[in-house]
Amino acid sequence: MQVIFMGLPGAGKGTQAERIVAEFEIPHISTGDMFRAAIAESTPLGLKAKSFIDQGLLVPDEVTIGIVRDRVQKPDAVKGFLLDGFPRTLAQAEALDALLSDLGRKIDVVINMHVKRENLLARLTGRRICKSCGATYHVVFNPPATEGQCDKCGGELFQRSDDTEDVVATRLDVNIKQSEPILAHYDGKELLRTIDGEQSIDEVYSQISSILRGVE
Ligand code: AP5
Repeated sequence: MQVIFMGLPGAGKGTQAERIVAEFEIPHISTGDMFRAAIAESTPLGLKAKSFIDQGLLVPDEVTIGIVRDRVQKPDAVKGFLLDGFPRTLAQAEALDALLSDLGRKIDVVINMHVKRENLLARLTGRRICKSCGATYHVVFNPPATEGQCDKCGGELFQRSDDTEDVVATRLDVNIKQSEPILAHYDGKELLRTIDGEQSIDEVYSQISSILRGVE
């Protein structure tokens, strides 16, 4: 099963991906996570990506397409994958179509989590992430049992450097502009399923899970 999660920054892609990959046993391929890991290790990719991410801008297509091309061909992705945060431009969507066609594979479904722009700022500025296991929390909407500490592994929670108010505003503007043609691209292929991402985390999960069980 090859699945794409779409949605503006803060729509809930990462939160839902954590649960969905556990249920369907497919790898979670998040371009944002790959860039952040590269930045933490100061690799050439990380150094290139950092200035774009810090400003809330997209990393250039040729860099992003290259890392996804390599990742989807790794052995753990042979049976399927969940792409989170890719594609983010029409050029990325077209490159993905070409790559999967060369591999004799195809996207099965594109899940678009829709949340109004005005609700995303609070979600992103209140987000906290575990340094050890990457689990996602929110100080109000999904708080850990003990403040600052991960429920799953006890790790320390931190705030992403691009979750500040001004960077979030740029990220939202950039993504709103880019996402319309991609949604139209997948709608034209009858792959797009849009769900209301403003429901509770459990309700959103239950809808996505039921769509994916229909695809399996
Ligand atoms: P990336 O890491 O992909 O960030 P993003 O798309 O901006 O998405 P987020 O991770 O911020 O949000 P999310 O939808 O996963 O929300 P979450 O589940 O955490 O990208 C970062 C940067 O990398 C980009 O800006 C760009 O520079 C670069 N990049 C990445 N991919 C690229 C590409 N393809 N091309 C070029 N550049 C690329 O939820 C957010 C918060 O809300 C959490 O606190 C959560 O607890 C809470 N929440 C979730 N669901 C709910 C709910 N239903 N109700 C209430 N609260 C909720």
